[in-house]
Amino acid sequence: MKTIETKIENGDCLNILKKYPDNFFNLIVTSPPYADSRSKTYGGIKPNEYVEWFLPRSEELLRVLRSDGTFVLNIKEKAVNGERHTYVLELILALRKQGWLWTEEFVWHKKNCFPGKWPNRFRDAWERCLQFNKSNKFNMYQEEVMVPMGDWAKNRLKKLSNTDLNRDESKVNSGFGKNVSNWVGRDMAYPTNVLHFATECYNKNHSAVFPKALPEWFIKLFTKKHDWVLDPFAGSGTTADVSQGLNRNSVGIDILPEYCQLAQKRIAHYQYRLFEDEAQYESNNTEADSGICRREYT
Ligand SMILES: C[S@@+](CC[C@H](N)C(=O)[O-])C[C@H]1O[C@@H](n2cnc3c(N)ncnc32)[C@H](O)[C@@H]1O
Repeated sequence: MKTIETKIENGDCLNILKKYPDNFFNLIVTSPPYADSRSKTYGGIKPNEYVEWFLPRSEELLRVLRSDGTFVLNIKEKAVNGERHTYVLELILALRKQGWLWTEEFVWHKKNCFPGKWPNRFRDAWERCLQFNKSNKFNMYQEEVMVPMGDWAKNRLKKLSNTDLNRDESKVNSGFGKNVSNWVGRDMAYPTNVLHFATECYNKNHSAVFPKALPEWFIKLFTKKHDWVLDPFAGSGTTADVSQGLNRNSVGIDILPEYCQLAQKRIAHYQYRLFEDEAQYESNNTEADSGICRREYT
């Protein structure tokens, strides 16, 4: 039986990542500090300086990610002086120059976003999840995130036109094409690039936690069991927590020791489950557990 490793490391990810070899991680999924926000808790970076701050860190991410791996960056630009700041757009361009392919953009629709009223805009109900890769050939396990077909299929697939019966290729070489008749009689479909997850407010000890469903979706899509997942801005350890539950190895890095402690506590939960589960089967288990290593769940 293989063990699952979960490491929480304290420090600036720029320095901590230097310890890791090239081409090591299968997936990087993270939500970095957003420009200027949360400056009271963990130091905001000025929007105008964000790209300059991010690039040395993404250079390390580029090095440690495998060539068939994926980097998912959850980020959203704030409004400054009445307009949306462009630092995320500038970051995308800079990352492309650094060698990343900007493969896809997912929208995280926050199903339960906070009600409010502003004079010049509506409430912000979505964030970007930008997908970057090192190569066009990356691992993707699409069947792992399929969704029920839904009621629309009953009507849409009842009567098929001539176009529906043949593959309808994209006219602009986008790689998209469809053969509607392929979906007759199926229960499950591939999802869209809009993800509907509610924010989770239960974690009172960190101000910017993302819901478990978010890293979970990307971990299922881009990794398999025993692969390595990295969150270089780990916060309360959501990515590490989910990775453990899905039997993936993971590393979480955070600059603040109190967040690392929080993350350690979260992953310790699995250690207890391990002991409870094993108690039923093993009467003389003498193996000492470090808290970062456990046997795989099935
Ligand atoms: C948006 S929060 C991440 C929250 C996380 N996704 C969760 O679910 O708890 C960003 C985190 O990045 C950490 N951070 C900021 N600068 C960092 C750096 N240079 N290296 C590592 N962590 C950093 C902050 O302390 C903060 O916890």
